[in-house]
Amino acid sequence: MTAVWKTAWVTGASTGIGRGLALKLAADGVRVAVSARSTDKLGELARAHANILAIPLDVTARADVAAAHRRIIETIGPIDLAVLNAGVWHPMKASEFNAARVADSMSVNYIGIANALEPLIPAMMAAGKGQLALVASVAGYRGLPNAAAYAPSKAAVISLAEVLRLELQRHGIVVSLVNPGFVETPMTSVNDFPMPYIMKPGDAADRILRGLARGKYEIAFPWQLVTTLKLLRLMPNALYLRVAGRL
Ligand SMILES: NC(=O)c1ccc[n+]([C@@H]2O[C@H](COP(=O)([O-])OP(=O)(O)OC[C@H]3O[C@@H](n4cnc5c(N)ncnc54)[C@H](OP(=O)(O)O)[C@@H]3O)[C@@H](O)[C@H]2O)c1
Repeated sequence: MTAVWKTAWVTGASTGIGRGLALKLAADGVRVAVSARSTDKLGELARAHANILAIPLDVTARADVAAAHRRIIETIGPIDLAVLNAGVWHPMKASEFNAARVADSMSVNYIGIANALEPLIPAMMAAGKGQLALVASVAGYRGLPNAAAYAPSKAAVISLAEVLRLELQRHGIVVSLVNPGFVETPMTSVNDFPMPYIMKPGDAADRILRGLARGKYEIAFPWQLVTTLKLLRLMPNALYLRVAGRL
């Protein structure tokens, strides 16, 4: 994979999938800028790996994200790959609807990506190349119980990735959409329901990087969960609502 990218920026890299991605990219010789709010965790990563640069930020702060983008380019050079992965999961039942949770989910999971895309797209267009990976979730395919705050934010990311893939390919920019199933990270550690086919973050990172290296559009895993959910997506609404209502 070393030949594919020289530089990368991974958001949400302090834990979980993002951390796994940063470690694997760095092990492959890529110069990686890692972002999240936890300065201590990013600092540990940077101290342990000479080619990891810690750039702490809150993805919801638009000006800070633009400043971080400038700093990364000044320090490691033009960004070949950006994995926009920072995210939050706030379980929320419709009966406990809370607009603040919805706002936080949208601002981190969706607006956080938009804040990074704003400086990334013109820089990659000027270079005539680059790769953008937007991390959504299989939870964005259809409405799911308990996900009134999360699922719509991921559905928005899925839609955005498609628009960007269509429009940016003529500028030499490859856009990929990453839809993981369950991965064992701090995010899922709060869940008290069964999580079929749950996998380790290192395994998820391998699958993501393999797909990205091939320029794949959608990187979704594990196949068993993805196939089931995609079949549910094909179901007529009335049938889906009956099936999902029993979950
Ligand atoms: N785990 C799963 O089963 C699963 C399934 C489908 C999709 N995903 C998606 O995969 C991505 C990574 O999730 P994960 O499972 O690896 O969870 P995680 O371990 O909780 O990681 C989330 C990352 O996002 C960062 N983050 C959260 N809010 C932020 C903010 N305002 N600004 C900057 N960084 C922020 C966190 O760092 P700080 O707290 O230090 O800021 C952390 O690095 C998310 O987008 C998630 O929705 C996960």
